[in-house]
Amino acid sequence: MVVVLSVLARKGGVGKSTAVRCLSVECLKAGLSVVIIDTDPQATCHRWGQRRAKAGIPVPLVVAVSPAGVAGQIESFRKRRVDVVLIDTPPTATPVVNAALDASDAALIITRPNPEDLESVQESLRVAGAQKRRTGVILWQSPPDKRVRAVTLAREALEVMGARVCPTAISASISYPYAYASGLTPQEREPEGRARAELAEVWAWLQREGILASMSYGKAARMPNDGLASAPRGQAATRSNGPEAVVPADRGPKGPARHTAREKSA
Ligand SMILES: Nc1ncnc2c1ncn2[C@@H]1O[C@H](COP(=O)(O)OP(=O)(O)OP(=O)(O)O)[C@@H](O)[C@H]1O
Ligand SMILES: [Mg+2]
Repeated sequence: MVVVLSVLARKGGVGKSTAVRCLSVECLKAGLSVVIIDTDPQATCHRWGQRRAKAGIPVPLVVAVSPAGVAGQIESFRKRRVDVVLIDTPPTATPVVNAALDASDAALIITRPNPEDLESVQESLRVAGAQKRRTGVILWQSPPDKRVRAVTLAREALEVMGARVCPTAISASISYPYAYASGLTPQEREPEGRARAELAEVWAWLQREGILASMSYGKAARMPNDGLASAPRGQAATRSNGPEAVVPADRGPKGPARHTAREKSA
């Protein structure tokens, strides 16, 4: 059964695409097959996927929106027994965001703990709520120093909005842009780092809250740079109406590769 999660925010630069990439790697670690639908014309996830493929790092399938639309794409992934579809969305109020939400099981709103960004969360909550999607909020690019009150104040503001907020705030760290530049995520770039621990907590929370919970879990996969970096090179596939899809080189006929043997518990 495929689980579809849209990641959204009305504000630019808060960390939506970064969150999608990090969660896609958490999926790979959990032995789940994952597809990213990059609905943003900026195509940052797509470029990241290309970098990974070039470097021979296992890639989630990264595709643009096809002419069939998001719903049609998800149907085809359902048939191909993909476990998780993550949809990256643009910061603008475009129809593709509604289409993404409509095709999703749940929504994840990303915000920095700044008043300017928090103000826009209300609108994202309204849009996701209108489609009755289970919705969570993650504070992203937060001051790493816990003595700074920005996160506490942000939580208070989000509580007033009735938001379901992840107890772990993702800290600001230069590791995120550095990781992007080399086609990685921070949990891969610094396996012992703080980002990895925070992202693992976020992953656990998403499951507890039922935002990514209906998946069947695979056996924990090795991290790509824990031994799979020498995997066969990925390759660019056919063009849809946007960026090229990035396909793992070891993709089987039934769909995207699972990067480990999986032991389904359900
Ligand atoms: N936790 C973090 N700490 C520091 N920098 C981060 C963090 N997360 C993301 N960034 C950086 O912030 C910038 C914006 O991130 P990202 O592209 O994910 O945002 P976005 O919300 O998808 O933006 P857009 O609305 O333009 O699509 C990038 O340079 C990214 O590397
Ligand atoms: Mg983005």
